[in-house]
Amino acid sequence: MSEPRQILVTSALPYANGSIHLGHMLEYIQTDMWVRFQKMRGNQCIYVCADDAHGSAIMLRAEKEGITPEQLIANVQAEHSADFADFLVDFDNFHSTHSEENRELSSLIYTRLREAGHIATRSVTQYFDPEKGMFLADRFIKGTCPKCAAEDQYGDNCEKCGATYAPTELKDPKSAISGATPVLRDSQHFFFKLPDFQAMLQQWTRSGTLQDAVANKLAEWLDAGLQEWDISRDAPYFGFEIPGEPGKYFYVWLDAPIGYMASFKNLCARRPELDFDAFWSQGSKAELYHFIGKDIVNFHALFWPAMLEGAGLRKPTAVNVHGYLTVNGAKMSKSRGTFIKARTYLDHLQPEYLRYYYAAKLGRGVDDLDLNLEDFVQKVNSDLVGKVVNIASRCAGFIHKGNAGVMVAGDAAPELTQAFLAAAPSIAEAYEGRDFGRAMREIMALADRANAWIADKAPWSLAKQEGKQDEVQAICAQGVNLFRQLVIFLKPVLPVLAADAEAFLNVPPLAWGDHATRLENHTLNPFKALMSRIEPAKVEAMVAASKEDLLAAEAKVTVGNGELAKDPLAAEIEFDTFAAVDLRVALIVKAEAVAGADKLLQLTLDIGDERRNVFSGIKSAYPDPSKLEGRLTMMVANLKPRKMRFGVSEGMVMAAGPGGEEIYLLSPDSGAKPGQRIK
Ligand code: MSP
Ligand code: ZN
Repeated sequence: MSEPRQILVTSALPYANGSIHLGHMLEYIQTDMWVRFQKMRGNQCIYVCADDAHGSAIMLRAEKEGITPEQLIANVQAEHSADFADFLVDFDNFHSTHSEENRELSSLIYTRLREAGHIATRSVTQYFDPEKGMFLADRFIKGTCPKCAAEDQYGDNCEKCGATYAPTELKDPKSAISGATPVLRDSQHFFFKLPDFQAMLQQWTRSGTLQDAVANKLAEWLDAGLQEWDISRDAPYFGFEIPGEPGKYFYVWLDAPIGYMASFKNLCARRPELDFDAFWSQGSKAELYHFIGKDIVNFHALFWPAMLEGAGLRKPTAVNVHGYLTVNGAKMSKSRGTFIKARTYLDHLQPEYLRYYYAAKLGRGVDDLDLNLEDFVQKVNSDLVGKVVNIASRCAGFIHKGNAGVMVAGDAAPELTQAFLAAAPSIAEAYEGRDFGRAMREIMALADRANAWIADKAPWSLAKQEGKQDEVQAICAQGVNLFRQLVIFLKPVLPVLAADAEAFLNVPPLAWGDHATRLENHTLNPFKALMSRIEPAKVEAMVAASKEDLLAAEAKVTVGNGELAKDPLAAEIEFDTFAAVDLRVALIVKAEAVAGADKLLQLTLDIGDERRNVFSGIKSAYPDPSKLEGRLTMMVANLKPRKMRFGVSEGMVMAAGPGGEEIYLLSPDSGAKPGQRIK
């Protein structure tokens, strides 16, 4: 036996401002299957991840929800952890980039880069939101496209004509946060001198660390020459302050990959056998793999290895890149109900169905992967239920009835036994090379042979004949042994099926090497159904629920905080959905500013039989709130109450306009009475 390998594996750190969806799951499931395979092989394999908790998007979302960023990221971390656990993604550690370990490591790496002369500083002129008091990233600036005059385009590119430009070229620019007109302002920024690592990267990207398609793409950038990378942001920002530079923060992408190290360090504190430096110091014998999507290659295959090199640390063994998930042949779509959250899936279907489908379709390349929902049902039912589980269910009963659950000794199909043994190295090689699709095809080919053999022997006919009991027992024992081997081969993909099979087989947890042994004179436990078929109705219900998720999300959009409903509902809604909204005429009895919230007004609304407390982000349009008192408006009265930092909001008032000063509260004609329903 060769020495066990030491392997550290990561998946990209999901942003802490949104839910996990089935696109994300493609990555976490893929990584988890690879890690489980390594563990089954007896290697020391550690899988770490974390939430990516920093950045202005998270800061602004927390503000909008009226909670602190710390509260937001704690809530999201709990949600993400549950989603991953329920999809059987078994991290050794799931940490956060907003952690003490990450602060220390980010500081250390930055300081080393600075001391080695890899940090430059210079002044940068950028749009600044005078009302909000912050610099605006391109996606927080909107205006009219300088090329085609389309309105309401983002600061760096036009969705209408595809033009790219600098935010300063945008006509009539507005802050998407406050609606204010941004002004140009200078500020000192810190840059990582990526060009210092040009030669190293040219060599490293071609040294077997990347798939060819990825290396080719990067060669285009490398040939064009690398630019210095801006790694600082000005306050207000949710992140780590740069050591010795008050008011300057690390850009989220600087400390995000360091979060891999931080999560591992946090784990080392709990697992004394793990030596942090042995994994991360230059010349480390441990292997390091990052699994990522194709959209974040430059961060992992250029910036990150350069940072590690500059800080005197080891570089990744390989960066494994995958493509994007499409559903039914198209980009996931909210209106079609194919933008499916992890939780929505789990509410309707078993995690292993999706794990198997992804495995069956994943190759080594960076191509997009399509989840075709019809094919999904068909493939899972035919392969897992029809082929694999079927073998055990066909054989178990005869062993229990005819031989008190004891599997007889002897090999009833030496050719098959040989074929299963001979296939193992190739299946292992496919797993190792992340060619899960090939592994699944080879396993299903074995399952087909096993089923054909059992069908040919037809123990169910023999069992009815006199004097054939020994033959029946020999066939069924062989069938269960073949089933056991298939379970070993599938265990990285189907850990729950494997655990249930281990219980039925009455064996301790199966490792990869166990495929070379067989059960003889061994007592089985009673057989219970191991997996049921996917009912297409469940898939339909999941798609329907994904459309409902969208409605719930739209209803949450509050007016006035810049995040006006950007994507008007593309789908038509049923009349019943509309009728479910309780719209009422409301009298504003009281309106006052909220201490500590620069956008919010607290409104007391009279809706006839009761009074409601509502927080609304309309302050920028109504700087003198008392003027609203005595006025009629319209409210959504049956919106689920929302707990905010300042209290509970019990509904939503209705307004029009882009935000900022341009918010127009709706009012009924005179004569309407508080509490009247709007129809
Ligand atoms: N926070 C960064 C990663 C920092 S790593 C130091 C990020 N987060 S993300 O939440 O947007 O994406 C997390 C991972 O999921 C990325 O690898 C991304 O490519 C992947 N995917 C997100 N949507 C996806 C699909 N629709 N399909 C496949 N993978 C997708 O990027
Ligand atoms: Zn345009």
